[in-house]
Amino acid sequence: MKPTLELREIHHDFSGLRVLAGVDLSVFPGERHAIIGPNGAGKTTLLNIISGRLHPRHGCVIYRQKDITRMSPYRIARLGVARSFQVINTFPRLTVFDSVRSAVLSRIGRRLDVWHVVDHQESVTRQTTNVLRLLGLLERRDTPACALSYGEQRQLEIALTIAASPELVLLDEPTAGLDVDESRKAIELIHQVSKNKTLVMIEHDMEVVFALADRISVLHYGVLVACGTPDQIRNSKEVQSAYLGTNLYVGRRS
Ligand SMILES: Nc1ncnc2c1ncn2[C@@H]1O[C@H](COP(=O)(O)OP(=O)(O)OP(=O)(O)O)[C@@H](O)[C@H]1O
Ligand SMILES: [Mg+2]
Repeated sequence: MKPTLELREIHHDFSGLRVLAGVDLSVFPGERHAIIGPNGAGKTTLLNIISGRLHPRHGCVIYRQKDITRMSPYRIARLGVARSFQVINTFPRLTVFDSVRSAVLSRIGRRLDVWHVVDHQESVTRQTTNVLRLLGLLERRDTPACALSYGEQRQLEIALTIAASPELVLLDEPTAGLDVDESRKAIELIHQVSKNKTLVMIEHDMEVVFALADRISVLHYGVLVACGTPDQIRNSKEVQSAYLGTNLYVGRRS
């Protein structure tokens, strides 16, 4: 099977500070792949490189056999790659419905063109409603994003990411700042929304990682030190000493 996403020898630095040092990674169709690693390991940088916000110093990003390394974020998004951000990145004054609708519209690339919107209105409304229902946000459809609870804003962030029906979904710490219950709900949501898609997710919470991931890559200061199934990672001595240390907890919180 050909990978959906392939990273080859990715190197990056910020003004000489080496952040990624030769990262190779293959993610296969339908796979849920988690990237874990300590703060500052280069995880967000890697996501920025995949989504075109940053261009690597060296190496290439292949998406469905196509070299997307130097493409703009916009073009990459149009190819079916969507991402969420580590910090909340919604429009505060837009209602939940309008936020998701504009994300749905971005797929057909006719954002604010009234005539085309009229053409597509029915299917856009249907798709928007479906996304809101899937994410459990239908009752909040007329609420401005800024009036949502923090947990709901995280849900909205995921809704915006999947609204355009992407094939590859990139999530940067989707459960950051959520409490235990909200986090469990987010796991369920991510599970739902990533069906029939390929998922690359950065995550600190081991409960989320072990509940969701088919495979896990461990990034340690710019180098992928391990890649394997949850069981392989759980039992890897290298991983424990490199990242998880003595506070390893897997599949449950203390
Ligand atoms: N735009 C930038 N300019 C300069 N340095 C940067 C920039 N972005 C990231 N860095 C540095 O690169 C390193 C990797 O950052 P990155 O955000 O990729 O880490 P991360 O693994 O996502 O960390 P975290 O778990 O805290 O989100 C860090 O040392 C960070 O300070
Ligand atoms: Mg980060």
